[in-house]
Amino acid sequence: MNKKESYKKNSKINNKSLVYLDKKYIWHPYTQMKIWNKQDNVVITHGDGFYLVSENGEKYLDGIANMWCSVWGYSSNPVIEATRRQFQELPHSTLFGLGNKPSIVLAKKLLNLSNGMGKIFYSDNGSTAMEVALKIAVQYWKNKQFPKKNKFLSLENGYHGDTIATMSIGYVDKYFNPYKSLLIRTFKAPAPSSFENNLDNILTDSEIVDVCIEKTEYLLEKYANNIAAFVMESGAQIAGGVSIYPNTYQKKISQLCKKYDVLLILDEIATGFGRLGNMIEYLAQDSKPDIVCYGKALNGGYFPIAVTLTTDEIYKEFFGNYDENKQLFHGHTYTGHPAGCAACIANLELYAKRNLIHEIRNNANHLKKRLKTFEDFKSVHKIRHKGLLVGIELAREVEISTRKRKKQPLSFIDGLALNTYIMRESLKRGVFLRSLGHIVTLIPPLAMPRNQLDILIDTAYDIIKSIEER
Ligand SMILES: Cc1ncc(COP(=O)(O)O)c(C=O)c1O
Repeated sequence: MNKKESYKKNSKINNKSLVYLDKKYIWHPYTQMKIWNKQDNVVITHGDGFYLVSENGEKYLDGIANMWCSVWGYSSNPVIEATRRQFQELPHSTLFGLGNKPSIVLAKKLLNLSNGMGKIFYSDNGSTAMEVALKIAVQYWKNKQFPKKNKFLSLENGYHGDTIATMSIGYVDKYFNPYKSLLIRTFKAPAPSSFENNLDNILTDSEIVDVCIEKTEYLLEKYANNIAAFVMESGAQIAGGVSIYPNTYQKKISQLCKKYDVLLILDEIATGFGRLGNMIEYLAQDSKPDIVCYGKALNGGYFPIAVTLTTDEIYKEFFGNYDENKQLFHGHTYTGHPAGCAACIANLELYAKRNLIHEIRNNANHLKKRLKTFEDFKSVHKIRHKGLLVGIELAREVEISTRKRKKQPLSFIDGLALNTYIMRESLKRGVFLRSLGHIVTLIPPLAMPRNQLDILIDTAYDIIKSIEER
């Protein structure tokens, strides 16, 4: 029996296929299950390099880095080995009342990389790392006797996670409307994406920065006494439409926050650790956060762990006598999980050994050249690209009167949402791609070799060509 046949045999449970059992038992995230249950789905049983392999032995090249977190792919490597060793040595030990070595080693490494930061708080996913950041910001002001500074200012089209507070600051109406009655009220400032996502936008990048900064300053001038923190993604908004900030935007926001005495919380969960070609994005953006969150690629893409870093200035406001109640009341069962920390440590060591950031920058230049060919498509409105983040924006012209035509986002094909269509067509071609609305994304694992990046590009090209030829 060859390897493919053996996996096929082993993947059946009581002779039922995993696809059948998946439909029977699993509720998938962000998924209309009525559609899912009618589809021919894929169940992954193992990995092979940068390929995910199904129960039938079909291979799919990962073009979305397993929801933007994978670095090294799915075969054995030093990060997986280090995690395994840590599981054998100490599978878990709580940070409630005890310390553990991997959490200390990792903290030191992260603080060395993160200029300006002084302390680290551990949690287990990006949403909770952001939730911690919000709690720290509000309590910081309360501990300093400014209890009215308890609201947030965040960006339109931002995304920070799926908990109640993170849905509030990263509100996307299409997704979060059913929960609106639970959400906290926040102030919203326009983001560069507020203009870029409008296909008729005629503003230049520097005009977009000026408008955003002017409107943000207006809000800060008016409401700073009630605002604990300004919250934004660092470097780019991905979920909000692969919008890469124009130069100087983030730096100017950072300066405004200092001017109006409002904390700056940066969400580097999806953009840090090389996605945009920089290890620490806020340093590359010349900005100075008071609180910053990392997750996803931090651990190589294997273990649910995320972190919230703060300055010493913030941390010291939580000091006091026990009955002053100034301590941070937050913690999770798996806070500072030793195996998760070991994964992060080995991951960072491998980044350094491989000089991964250098490799990412070279591959980004290669992608830039290859993406030029997409400009010939009529249905490609704009290509958004930085580092190993690519968004190919699809649009079509529609006639709105006998004289006037207008570009509209191409979000549906044959009545199917573009994302469903792109997933189906890419899987048919042995690749896993997704889209965000009308934007086809290429978000590969960060260490993917160039010849496989080329396969992703070729597949996206082929699918868009087939859309145009319809
Ligand atoms: C910028 C950003 N922040 C926070 C999150 C939430 O992270 P998690 O899915 O690990 O909760 C995400 C997830 O995609 C994200 O992109």
